[in-house]
Formats: sequence, structure tokens, C-alpha cells
Amino acid sequence: MASTAPSPARPAVALTGVGKRFPGVVAVSDVTLSVPPGEVHVFAGENGAGKSTLMKLVAQVEPPTSGTIELDGRSVGYQGPGAARRLGVSMVHQEFALAPDLSVAENLFIGHEPGRWGWITRAGERRAARDLLARVGLDVDPNRRVSQLSTAEQQRVELAKALAVRAKVLILDEPTASLTERETAELFGIVRELTAQGIAVLYISHRLDEIFEIGDRVTVMRDGAVVATRPVSELDEAELVRLMVGRDVDNLYPRSHASPGEVRLRVSGLSRGDRVRDVSFEVRAGEIVGLAGLVGAGRTELARSVFGAEPPETGTVELDGATLRIRTPADAIAAGIGYLTESRKTDGLALQLGVDKNITMARLPMRGGLIDLRTERSVAERSRDGLRIRVPWVGRPVRLLSGGNQQKVILARWLETGAEVLFFDEPGRGMDVGAKSEMFQQMDELAARGKAVVFISSYLPELLNMCDRILVMRGGRITGEVPRADFSEERVVALATGARDES
Ligand SMILES: Nc1ncnc2c1ncn2[C@@H]1O[C@H](COP(=O)(O)OP(=O)(O)OP(=O)(O)O)[C@@H](O)[C@H]1O
Ligand SMILES: [Mg+2]
Repeated sequence: MASTAPSPARPAVALTGVGKRFPGVVAVSDVTLSVPPGEVHVFAGENGAGKSTLMKLVAQVEPPTSGTIELDGRSVGYQGPGAARRLGVSMVHQEFALAPDLSVAENLFIGHEPGRWGWITRAGERRAARDLLARVGLDVDPNRRVSQLSTAEQQRVELAKALAVRAKVLILDEPTASLTERETAELFGIVRELTAQGIAVLYISHRLDEIFEIGDRVTVMRDGAVVATRPVSELDEAELVRLMVGRDVDNLYPRSHASPGEVRLRVSGLSRGDRVRDVSFEVRAGEIVGLAGLVGAGRTELARSVFGAEPPETGTVELDGATLRIRTPADAIAAGIGYLTESRKTDGLALQLGVDKNITMARLPMRGGLIDLRTERSVAERSRDGLRIRVPWVGRPVRLLSGGNQQKVILARWLETGAEVLFFDEPGRGMDVGAKSEMFQQMDELAARGKAVVFISSYLPELLNMCDRILVMRGGRITGEVPRADFSEERVVALATGARDES
């Protein structure tokens, strides 16, 4: 080990004047910061603030354009991600980077120089894999293909991979965005064990509750620069939001309740396999109806089935009293039904195309049989301004946008389709608090214009604040309906979990 006396003050990571420019964009600007071993250091800030980019510089996924990075007291030049891993930095990306067709064990030991584990034998590798998986509480066969695992399990593999290289610095980029509450609690357990072993954890999050729960200190970024670094214990929510957004967000949930109009969407006796069972409900003009339930309750399957992505086996869907024949999503879109899916990866963002093309793709502005480029651009610019999509010009390829801004592009697309009925499935995932409140504003406006909105969310405060009614699903069925007058978290949770309900 090092010959110098162990010094507890020596930071695990120290950044001095670190910056990163891309053509036309300063993604990170002059960041100076140090993180001691054993600290959970949260990075927060608006979409596009530079959080992921900064982490990629630490993990040496990309070289900085200025400044120095020290790991464990030693300045490291840019040598690439392999070198960073050998120096003890491991990063779990916003979008996972596992190789889906390799086994769990193969993923764990990818890129290991031979010899690190002594003679690597198949059996030895499997044994080592089991040990690592046990440390992150994952009980799966190391021979399983990664593609067969759930998102949460894949993330555990990523964490195990970090342990495999004996990480001293672990970077987690929005790790809970697609986890259930229980999985999140388990992840926090693992994070606490790792920090107890002296690992420094750099943790990107938009969720205030989790920042306060897991963070020791928080660094807020805006426009690439550090706005403030503070101990979490010295902050309250309002102040943190102000630092993140640069203004007061006094109303996170803007909702104007008007009395609902005629029934627009009527779903009757819809079934598909055991995920959607005999579901019937209505949504009126001007209503936002929430769909609550545990993960796996069938909410997404219901939406997909109405939308024609997984056409129902029985049942009917009516819009304004007319029965629709929907066998594909194209049928649904043509009929006036939109669906913002929960996963941006599979929601058909054309990553190479510009923001403008991606927004107008579901309903191209045509003029005399040609795509009307002027209209396309102005539509895109209006969306960009309305949702604050952070992009220097609307023709910029979507792949160059930050994760949250990509999410906004998908949202903008659905807002532009002119759909009469819109399903929003976990739409706020990955969006910063300011952007979320703008998104809710737009949902409210849709309702005010007489559209019918179905809002799926696992975060109850969102549903309780935005909806007129909440339908609760369990095991593929609607198990209860809660009108706004009776809204309470307990009531919804009881219906979702099947705990005995008073009514
Ligand atoms: N490879 C790239 N080429 C060009 N610009 C990029 C590239 N990667 C990121 N950017 C830009 O750098 C800025 C910071 O992006 P970054 O992904 O770091 O934001 P973020 O804080 O992680 O946001 P989010 O909360 O949305 O994930 C954005 O303006 C983004 O468009
Ligand atoms: Mg990011």
C-alpha cells in the first residue's frame, strides 16, 4: 500500500477547475470540488446542467477540456474508462451499459486484465460472481443472459461490477429512476454498506426525498457550473429547489379544477392475458384520471392495450361515443389517442435526427404533399420554449441532449399530435422539478381544452395533486376508485396492496 501515513483528510476525488466544452455548448465549467472517502455526495440541478457530463469526466469516459482530476491524492491524466476502473472509479450510467447478450458472470468480468483474480477458470469465475452478487443481494444464476433480468436486477449487476474492480469511487447516475420503492430502499442499504467501507459515492438525483435520505452533501449545478455545495442537513426543500431552479417554484402542481364534461374515452371489458382483466372505465372531457398501483399491477399493460401496442383480446374502446378499431399504435394515433410511454429508450426517439423532426414526427406539418419545414421549425421552437428544452438550435440531433431533455422532446411530441385522449406513463421520470411543474401546467391546459387525460404514476403526491379521480389497479384489475373528495395516501395504498378497505 502507499508508504505515506494514512490520512483521513485525503479526498477520494478532487476536481480543480474542471471544464468540458462540446461544439456550441459549455457542458461543464470550472468545477472545483472534493469528496472524502465514505461520503454520499449528491449532484442535483436542472436538466442539462452538466451533471452526467461531469461524472463522465471523473470516470474518464471523456477527457476534460480544462482542469485537473485527482483520485486518492494522485493527479490522473486522461487515459480512458479502462484506466479509471483500474484506479478504482466505477460508474453506473443513466442508461445502463451492460452487454445484454452476455451472461451475468461475463458482464462482471468484462475488461478485467487476466491475472487479477489469479487464474480465471470458468468455475472460479462463477464462484467469484456468486460472492459479488451476494454482496449486492442478488440471487440469480451467473450464467443467465443479462437480457433476461429486470431493470432492478441489471442495476445490481452494475453495482456488483463496481465491486468487482474494488471501486473506491462509485458513480450512480439517477439510479432510482426505474426502481420500485422497495428496490430503492434496498439500493440505499447497499449504498450505506459501501460508504461504511470507505467508498465515496457520487450520486445524481432529481428527487428531493431521496437527496435528503441518502445524501451527506449536495452540489447543485446550473449551466455547467457549481451553484453551491452544502451539507444536506443545513438545507430544507424550498431552499434546495431554489438553488436547483434559480427561482422559487411556488406551485409544483398547478391544477385548475373545472367540472368535467361529456364522456370522451370509454373502455369496456378490456382483457389481455392475465395482465389486463376485464377493465372498464371512462374519462370525461377536462378530466385527469390517475392510475395508481404497484409496479406490475397492469397499468402500463392497460395503456398499451388501449393504444394498440398489445391489442386487447376482448373489450371495446370508444371515443366520443364511436367504437374504435385499434389493432396498432398507428390506428390509435389516427383515432386521436396518444401514449407517452414510461421508457424513452423504446419510445422511438430517432436519436440521429433533430429535436424538430422528433417533435413533429407523429404528425408532420404538410403543405402540398411536402413537409412544411418552416412550420416544423416554429412548432419545435414553441415546444422548446414552453418546456424549456435545453438545446442551442432545434435541428440539433437528439442524441446530444441530456437525458431529461430527451424526455421533454417525447413529451413535446405527444403534446403536438393534437390527440384527444392522452396516456402519460410516469412522465416526470428524469425531469428536474422546474420542468416537472411546467409539464403539469401543460397537462392542466390539455384538460382545460377539453381533452381526456390518463396519468400513470408511482409517486402518489403527483396523483393526489393533479387528478380528479384515481383508479387503483391490482393484478390486472381495477380494484377501486377514489374521488378527489376522498383523496388520501392511505386509501390509495390500501387499494393497491389489497389491504382490507373500509368500503
Ligand atoms: N456528447 C455531447 N455532445 C454535445 N453536447 C453534449 C454531449 N453530451 C452532453 N452535451 C450537452 O451538455 C449539456 C449537459 O448535459 P448533461 O447530460 O451533462 O446534463 P445533465 O445535468 O446530466 O442533465 P439531465 O438531468 O437531463 O440528465 C447539455 O446541454 C447537453 O446537450
Ligand atoms: Mg444526466
